[in-house]
Amino acid sequence: MNIEERLLEKKKAVEQGLERVLSQGDSLLFRAMRYAVLSGGKRFRPLLTLSSGECFGVSRDVLLPFACALELIHNYSLVHDDLPSMDNDDFRRGKPSCHKEYGEGIALLTGDSLLTLAFEVLAQAPVDEKLKSKKEQIIKEISHLAGVNGMIGGQLMDVTLSPGELTDKIFNELIQKKTGALIIASVKTGSILGGATNSELGAMVEYGKNIGIAFQIRDDILDSASEAQEGQLARPNSVSLFGLEDSKCRVKNCVEAAKAALDEASLESEELNYLASKLLELGNRKGK
Ligand code: IPE
Ligand code: IPE
Ligand code: MG
Repeated sequence: MNIEERLLEKKKAVEQGLERVLSQGDSLLFRAMRYAVLSGGKRFRPLLTLSSGECFGVSRDVLLPFACALELIHNYSLVHDDLPSMDNDDFRRGKPSCHKEYGEGIALLTGDSLLTLAFEVLAQAPVDEKLKSKKEQIIKEISHLAGVNGMIGGQLMDVTLSPGELTDKIFNELIQKKTGALIIASVKTGSILGGATNSELGAMVEYGKNIGIAFQIRDDILDSASEAQEGQLARPNSVSLFGLEDSKCRVKNCVEAAKAALDEASLESEELNYLASKLLELGNRKGK
């Protein structure tokens, strides 16, 4: 299998894992959860978990529940992010956003349910006795990085800071938190399960930090090029702050820095390098 096929095969495994955890019931809430999650995401975070874990020799079966839990957290954040009181976005992945389909109250609860389900999946993730303490460490990392000091802290900055307050440094902190934190959590999860040394873990975090920034700036570039933003609350983004060329340059620098971090630690992962390089492509946005 070539690299594209290998990643596609991993993505399929993630889809199946997500379908499994979301098929426990057929209540309105489960239907809304399935609507929000099984709607064609790129599954970037779970792919990072699977690829980073495999880089350290961890088996797919062990990694999959962790990868799915991270995707559930990501999807909860999107459902809440689209709400009228947040970004007021009517569409997600080319379909009406969760609150447009199910109403605001149900969308709020859908996000709540996805977040709690993620931690149920983590708590139930089957691991050998010798991985139990690593699993505990991962749950601590994920809850920290998804919370007030990570993703939610970034979302807070996104909704409260005005363009005038966004210096380069503060904007970087914002995107590192709102987007980078969960991406770092995704590579850390695979690495911790694989028994990475401190310096290997440091390199993986450096990789995650850089692709997190590149990922968000690329998203801003694609958003600014798309015409489907009407009605959405205009929040400052990389393009409005720094311009298109500077934003592209930032993506390129971060992708290079991410790959260099792996290289310097002699971490060989064709997949992680490929996933980083893909961020340089600014082709058509498919069903955002
Ligand atoms: C969108 O994330 C929100 C950001 C953090 C930029 P993705 O671009 O990963 O969205 P999906 O999951 O593939 O739809
Ligand atoms: C979303 O960021 C980040 C989180 C949901 C944590 P954006 O608002 O920039 O992403 P899109 O454009 O809605 O996908
Ligand atoms: Mg948004």
